[in-house]
Amino acid sequence: KKKVILDCDPGHDDAFAMMLAVQNLDVLGITTIGGNCTLENVTRNAIKVLEVIGQADNIGVYPGHSRPTVMPLVTAPQFHGETGLDGPVLPEPTHSPQDKHAVDFIVDTVMSTDDVTLIATGPLTNIAAALNREPRMVDRVREICIMGGSVTFGNWTPTAEFNIYVDPEAAYRVFNSGIHVKMTGINLTRQCCLTEKHIADFRNIGTKAANFAADLTEYFLKTCEDETQLTGATIHDACAAAWIINPDLIKSASMHIDIELKGELTRGMTVCDYRHLRGIDPAVDIERTPQMDFRGEQPNAEAALELDFPGFVDLLYKTLRQYD
Ligand code: BDR
Ligand code: CA
Repeated sequence: KKKVILDCDPGHDDAFAMMLAVQNLDVLGITTIGGNCTLENVTRNAIKVLEVIGQADNIGVYPGHSRPTVMPLVTAPQFHGETGLDGPVLPEPTHSPQDKHAVDFIVDTVMSTDDVTLIATGPLTNIAAALNREPRMVDRVREICIMGGSVTFGNWTPTAEFNIYVDPEAAYRVFNSGIHVKMTGINLTRQCCLTEKHIADFRNIGTKAANFAADLTEYFLKTCEDETQLTGATIHDACAAAWIINPDLIKSASMHIDIELKGELTRGMTVCDYRHLRGIDPAVDIERTPQMDFRGEQPNAEAALELDFPGFVDLLYKTLRQYD
């Protein structure tokens, strides 16, 4: 199993990423970051999720930064509720967070363990801080797979996705670090929508984890549909975990990606240079057009373009069956 650290802000879709990662990868630890909700709440939520799936004795939760690098924290209660994980009724956690700070955990683990992959499904504040603390991490990390940004449109603003919007300075640090970045942006995650049918399937699977998935989706479906007027609950963060578990689930293209820090309308935008793919829709052109020479800077990232959604759902069902 691939060794990973999952940095997250649960969050309904983060909870899906956690369940996928814990069953299918070697999760060395879970670090938390203020994002969807306060650090205190997302840390408590991460522990609750581990307790539901019976893994809280095995995997530590390390609290990280409570606010972004520069700007004040922006949270997303309209999607995740006041607790950050409204909907499922869960007991108060019996486990405590670890005493060690997330940034120390990330640095120490990466420097002492070969071939660690970072999966980040919240704002990139902890990862950027870790890179500043220990720049040699760049040569140690295998890769970083993030949910954030977009090759096309945003969700929080027309151009910016929430995780990048919350801490663009941190995202800038990560994308310009030299670590290979895999980006599952909104353009990809919008292909990962759960509906009533999936809720019914979760109930049929019937494990504790599957019922939890159903409860999560019931709440999240409603808030996603109310807020976006789209059909389904988009479980963005699960895509980042799925890509590391099974790379065949996602088609991608290499490109240079940078972060807009100053734009009046575009702060937090992931500026993706895919001129070599020629067309307006990179997902279409990846099939049609052989990759041409890169026109601008050399690629620092691989952007996810197309999700095998049936394959993803199979992985999710299999995973939920495997938990007791
Ligand atoms: C991202 O923002 C958060 O609300 C979700 O958990 C996901 O990480 C989607 O833009
Ligand atoms: Ca998240």
